[in-house]
Amino acid sequence: MRRVTILVIIMTALVAFLALTAMAQEAKEEAKEEVKEEAKEEIQHDFVGAKKCKICHKAQFTSWSETGHATSFDKLTDEEKAKPECVTCHTSGNLAKDSSLMEGIQCEACHGAGGDYKSAKIMSKKKWAADPETYKKMAIDAGLVYPTEENCKSCHKKEGNPNFKEFDFAKMKGKVHTMSEEGK
Ligand code: HEC
Ligand code: HEC
Ligand code: HEC
Ligand code: HEC
Repeated sequence: MRRVTILVIIMTALVAFLALTAMAQEAKEEAKEEVKEEAKEEIQHDFVGAKKCKICHKAQFTSWSETGHATSFDKLTDEEKAKPECVTCHTSGNLAKDSSLMEGIQCEACHGAGGDYKSAKIMSKKKWAADPETYKKMAIDAGLVYPTEENCKSCHKKEGNPNFKEFDFAKMKGKVHTMSEEGK
């Protein structure tokens, strides 16, 4: 009799254990899925590089090429180029994904990763001219950024920047490249 009781207790414990393990496993899988989804949300758009923007925005590209932003990676020594604490503000793209890291402060460092908004379905001269509000909204939804002072100050700040100069957004804004009024 006693042996049977012990057996029943052991069986019950085993079933409970298995059920708990299964639940724990399920919870783990769910957590993994959640993290994956969150990561996917963060990596929303691919970086394409300034040469892709040049195809349609020649004036901005040419004037940008002459600024310090275009060559800001070249200003670092070979030793500094190997230091993440220097590379971070002298490149564009996501440091966590080496494949998308681009040298210099390219268009997308300010305007957001262009993999989706650069599409001619959105950035079409004809369609945009006919309905600018709709297409501007579509571009913003696809990742286009109209940079603000805050965007600039992610790099133009004292912390970590050994060459810091006071940053006056109103004065600096017009120096990043020629704007359409001045010819496109
Ligand atoms: C297929 C051609 C094409 C490509 C490629 C392209 N654009 Fe555009 N883009 C346009 C057109 C057309 C407009 C609509 C406004 C205009 O006519 O200039 C526009 C609008 C914009 C605007 C908003 C302008 C405004 O007046 O509101 C920005 C900023 C911009 N593009 C940046 C970029 C960047 C950065 C890239 C590269 C990642 C890029 N574009 C790639 C054609 C293109
Ligand atoms: C927080 C962003 C940031 C970090 C980190 C950073 N820099 Fe810079 N760097 C800038 C900015 C912005 C400028 C332009 C000067 C300014 O307006 O502050 C600049 C300018 C420079 C220049 C050009 C100076 C000149 O006057 O022509 C050199 C060289 C340079 N940085 C080297 C470095 C080195 C080396 C490191 C790592 C120790 C580093 N930077 C880290 C943002 C940064
Ligand atoms: C990803 C980092 C980063 C961002 C974002 C950034 N900058 Fe810079 N900026 C730099 C660095 C680095 C330099 C120094 C370039 C050099 O001379 O080597 C610089 C230099 C400049 C210069 C001097 C350019 C020259 O030709 O000497 C101006 C003007 C400027 N930035 C304006 C802006 C404005 C306006 C914004 C926002 C709309 C902005 N920057 C956003 C990193 C950045
Ligand atoms: C350092 C930041 C910065 C970089 C780099 C940059 N831009 Fe801009 N861009 C701006 C700012 C600031 C504006 C003005 C936004 C506003 O007025 O709201 C602007 C406006 C624009 C506009 C709309 C105004 C116009 O000229 O018609 C276009 C198009 C544009 N940028 C394309 C580009 C392209 C293409 C590149 C790369 C070759 C580039 N930008 C690089 C900051 C930048």
